[in-house]
Amino acid sequence: MNKSNSYANDTHSYAKPNEAVAKHLLLDVEVDFDKEVIKGTAAYSIESTNASEIVFDAKNLKIHQTTVDGKEVAFSLGTNDPILGQSLTIPITKNAKKVAISYETTDKTEALQFLNPQQTADKAFPFLLTQGQAILTRTWIPIQDSPQVRLTYTAKVKVPKELMAIMSAENPKVKSENGQYSFEMRQPISPYLIALAVGDLVYKEISPRTGVYAEKSMIDKVHYEFADMEKMVNAAENLYGTYVWDQFDVVVLPPSFPFGGMENPRLTFATPTVVAGDRSLTSLIAHELAHSWSGNLVTNATWNDFWLNEGFTVYFEMRIMEALYGKEYANMLASIGRQDLAEQLESFHDKPEATHLKLDLKGKNPDDGMNSIAYDKGYLFLRTLEETVGRYKMDTFLKGYFNKHAFSTMTTEKFIKYLNTELLEKNKVSFNINDWVYNAGVPANAAKIVSDKFQKVEEAIENWKKGTLSDHELCAKDWNIQQKIHFIRNIPATISIEKFTTLDNACQFSSATNSYIAMVWFEQAINHNYHANNVDVHIENFLMTVGRRWYVSTLYRAFKRADKLEEAKRIYEKARPNYHSVTVNTIDDMLGVSY
Ligand code: BES
Ligand code: ZN
Repeated sequence: MNKSNSYANDTHSYAKPNEAVAKHLLLDVEVDFDKEVIKGTAAYSIESTNASEIVFDAKNLKIHQTTVDGKEVAFSLGTNDPILGQSLTIPITKNAKKVAISYETTDKTEALQFLNPQQTADKAFPFLLTQGQAILTRTWIPIQDSPQVRLTYTAKVKVPKELMAIMSAENPKVKSENGQYSFEMRQPISPYLIALAVGDLVYKEISPRTGVYAEKSMIDKVHYEFADMEKMVNAAENLYGTYVWDQFDVVVLPPSFPFGGMENPRLTFATPTVVAGDRSLTSLIAHELAHSWSGNLVTNATWNDFWLNEGFTVYFEMRIMEALYGKEYANMLASIGRQDLAEQLESFHDKPEATHLKLDLKGKNPDDGMNSIAYDKGYLFLRTLEETVGRYKMDTFLKGYFNKHAFSTMTTEKFIKYLNTELLEKNKVSFNINDWVYNAGVPANAAKIVSDKFQKVEEAIENWKKGTLSDHELCAKDWNIQQKIHFIRNIPATISIEKFTTLDNACQFSSATNSYIAMVWFEQAINHNYHANNVDVHIENFLMTVGRRWYVSTLYRAFKRADKLEEAKRIYEKARPNYHSVTVNTIDDMLGVSY
């Protein structure tokens, strides 16, 4: 191995990559929908420095057999940690080249979600999706599950012949005859980015290098929604350099997918809740695309450095949206994030260390650090930096940063050093980096985010409160979706239930079809103890079908805050089987239940 001791300490992985590391994965598995397991072999090409063993991460897996260069060896499994799982240690000799692990998943796998036909759009076939970030890949593949261990992979996946399999790799565009699929990911990626989806999917091209996968009944709608994808890739390349992953596709999954989007390389996974019909929520695609640079190309070295992935990505997302739809649009999105940040800071007022950019998640589930601080404070840091040095210097810096560190991982400390030498010292600018990164809250020099369109909304709220603007005049305003969201979120806590009711009668928010509008309205309805216009039924239906963690946690949290824990639990008990494990974990904790 050429670079010894080049891996930073990662408290969320048992692997010791400085001693022995996997460089390529050859995955050969079969998906069994009846038993809801994946089984097969993970074979690795490895490199080592005289090590006598190689250590992998495994969580809730059945390990059947391990071989080194074709010969069976005895493996050992460490004690099971509820967060990290187990170490899987395999003895090796000095010149060992290949280690193979045959295994199968169990019903405790947290990455996999098997869905029955009723949970899909077309209701005819089952579906499988995986979610690897942050440390769940080890629950479906025994692997060195640290973001620093980059590897290439090839995979052979066998699925029922009615279904199509796609991965974060080079993908089929039509179904195979026999349910057998082969994949190749030529660029080295972090384990959390290995992903698989299996379902009755079809593909529709947007441009030669962009397109969408979805179930048949959704494909045209999805294709319309994301029609600007090629333009987004173009805009992104103009900002920060060549798109190196060749293809950029999006698969729209069933609604239980726990995230808005997940940046699996070459194949972003997305929730159907962004398919609004009017392209109003497509910044999510810009976000996942931006991860092709910040995250997938230059990757957070550990989960303590998560803000390097998400803060940079939100900044890049805003720049892509600005390039396509203008400054005003981007400023609306940034203002929404600024309000999210204010609310997050408020919720952490007695836990200030949680508001640092650089986190200390040792002994904790990395998921606990994945809130809007990394995203929105991270964004605000970069935007403030941009306003300090000027856009031209900022862009030159960022382009150089991605180029110089392509296919490598980044710690917060290494980034700060690079920022100091390449941007600040070169341009003789001083900037309070440590304050931003290692201290709580938002420093005083933070950029002020102003949106003219939102100021109009705020004026309207004032007039509506005073009674000089009627409900009907308010609803008749030609506001876009973001303006409506801003309006709803800023309805004063003090308005009367009568006023809330006449507003809903006029604007029909309770039956909104845009998922984001529905979500923020439902939150307000819960806050205001509002029950007219069938809103309770709409809320329950929403929670029963949508599993997107950010949406459902917002609503359960609102119930809890409004002293309606019983109502929350009543719905959750029914909805829980529809949710992915990452959503379940969050909501179990929030409501203090376990089943
Ligand atoms: N990488 C994240 C999703 C994620 C974060 C998965 C933490 C597991 C742990 C993805 O890029 C993301 O940020 N998704 C957001 C949407 C985005 C527009 C803010 C989401 O899911 O809501
Ligand atoms: Zn992200």
